[in-house]
Amino acid sequence: MASIKRHWSQPDSKPFDKNLLTPNNPRAHPDLRVKDRSNLQEIRSRVRALRDELEIMKKRGKMCIEEIGYDFDKERLLDEALLPDGYGPFVDPKNGKVSKDWLIKREVDNYAKTITEDFATILETKVKPRFYIQTMGFTVPWHQDRGTQSAINFVLTTSRDPIEFRHRVYRYRTAIIDVQQEHQVTATTEDRVLFKLSLPDMDFDTARRKFYKYCLDNDVSPSGKGIHV
Ligand SMILES: [Fe+2]
Repeated sequence: MASIKRHWSQPDSKPFDKNLLTPNNPRAHPDLRVKDRSNLQEIRSRVRALRDELEIMKKRGKMCIEEIGYDFDKERLLDEALLPDGYGPFVDPKNGKVSKDWLIKREVDNYAKTITEDFATILETKVKPRFYIQTMGFTVPWHQDRGTQSAINFVLTTSRDPIEFRHRVYRYRTAIIDVQQEHQVTATTEDRVLFKLSLPDMDFDTARRKFYKYCLDNDVSPSGKGIHV
């Protein structure tokens, strides 16, 4: 019997031909075919753009936000958020820039404290609460959060203004968010009031899993009105 050559299973032993990448090569990607071959800067910037595009494509489809059902008294929490005591301008830890149109309050008590403690129990992790007020018209520009891996955000205004990730835009009310993925928020339609629970020691996927496990174990709906405070 004739032996069957299994070409398909043989590894490609041919060394990689770097010339394939040169702009002279007709087989190169059209974006790499530059008329002025001496313009290396242009070639490099096009390669960089393609690489960025590839990164965005890779991230597309990766989850970065999950809306959750957590039944709380929004009016009561908003009332606490609007108490002016304790607010100060946000100072960017990266560059020391002070944002007077983005206020933060780190000391919370009463109802906000109850919710904070509730999530510390649900997720079995350290939870750091904050209130934010973002003036209408102000953009919190592209950033990854510092000092926190993920967060649970409660939008206390109307949630018409979305959070933007590089690959997608979301409107939400209460959600677990992967704040390690670049995001920005513009308060376009109104002053934006937010209650945020930072999770410094827990990543997005773990927080999601923990939340759903809690719901299962306690027989409550993760997307409905199961948990009451
Ligand atoms: Fe952020």
